[in-house]
Amino acid sequence: MNKTLICYFSASGVTKSVSEKLAKTLEGDLFEIEPTEKYTSADIDWTNKESRSSVEMADKSSRPAIAKKIENLEVYDKIIIGFPVWWYTAPTIINTFIEENDLRNKKIYVFVTSGGSNETGSFTDLKNSYPELNFVRAKRFKGTESEEEYRSFIEE
Ligand SMILES: Cc1cc2nc3c(=O)[nH]c(=O)nc-3n(C[C@H](O)[C@H](O)[C@H](O)COP(=O)(O)O)c2cc1C
Repeated sequence: MNKTLICYFSASGVTKSVSEKLAKTLEGDLFEIEPTEKYTSADIDWTNKESRSSVEMADKSSRPAIAKKIENLEVYDKIIIGFPVWWYTAPTIINTFIEENDLRNKKIYVFVTSGGSNETGSFTDLKNSYPELNFVRAKRFKGTESEEEYRSFIEE
């Protein structure tokens, strides 16, 4: 055991691209947090209060379903969770993911992509929601970082 799993949700590809770079640099495995019902561009229209993402993010108890399960979670000791910032925090599908998987005894690293918001709001919210979990560090990535920056993310 000393394996890293990069779990990501990406609605429009930015987080996916960063995840692939991280996986390559850290020699980690990738798991896509794939919604059972994919988000269309209408679903992620934040200017529309009635779009799917607006409705979900206004209801903190929403838990969008995930299509696949991780099969061999026990072989990983470091879990990286990546997602786009939605309304200053993590999309609620990230809550689904955390609640469906037993992440106790894992070191959890969080990264976000965003239009400008940093990782602090998302990280604080996750730590407050799941005080039993070991959240180590969070960072915002733009996708233009060096391999060294990716590497230092999980090296203490
Ligand atoms: C519904 C929604 C809400 C968003 N809210 C924020 C926000 O609060 N702050 C921010 O900087 N960017 C926000 N964004 C922009 C995304 O975080 C950014 O485009 C992200 O890199 C997209 O990642 P993806 O392509 O992996 O889905 C929002 C985007 C969407 C679709």
